[in-house]
Amino acid sequence: MVLLWSCLLCWAVVGCGPTDPRESVQRLKLTPEEIQEGQRVVRLHCATCHGVDDKTRESMLSPSLWAVREHYIRKYPEPEAFVAAMMAFLDHPKTESSLMPLASEEYGLMAMLPLDEAQMRAAVRLICAGHVVRPSWARAYDKAHAPCYE
Ligand code: HEC
Repeated sequence: MVLLWSCLLCWAVVGCGPTDPRESVQRLKLTPEEIQEGQRVVRLHCATCHGVDDKTRESMLSPSLWAVREHYIRKYPEPEAFVAAMMAFLDHPKTESSLMPLASEEYGLMAMLPLDEAQMRAAVRLICAGHVVRPSWARAYDKAHAPCYE
């Protein structure tokens, strides 16, 4: 029991401490207007395919935006690099620049969207800032995707 608690404590300190790369991206702070605009774009243009709530994996047509963020944040912990990489992918989705090759295999490569740069950026910044629902299966997902994060 004591061991369990020390493990949990350790996880809480090490796993969520400032050394966790996922923390630094959360420093991207959006204004209420930016959040509103980002949510509007995501609702209208991303939610149709991407699970944005606590959907089960089986009912989705593409990975949840939370899962997408998990992949980007580990490779690009700095907000600027995160946003640039995601914008580059959305501008021209390509297998070679995909950080989620398993998702492309499962669902097919994402199509190019008819959105302008500002709309796309609003959605990408919203995702980067962490305004995505963490699904109940998040921990199992992270465990299964550990090899992607190396
Ligand atoms: C028509 C369905 C569809 C819509 C609409 C859609 N996506 Fe996707 N998206 C996908 C699929 C399928 C994948 C998984 C395959 C892949 O990665 O290309 C994906 C993957 C992604 C990825 C991961 C790319 C990678 O590295 O592989 C990002 C980022 C992304 N979507 C962002 C968005 C954003 C932001 C929006 C809204 C502005 C959006 N998507 C709208 C289908 C869609």
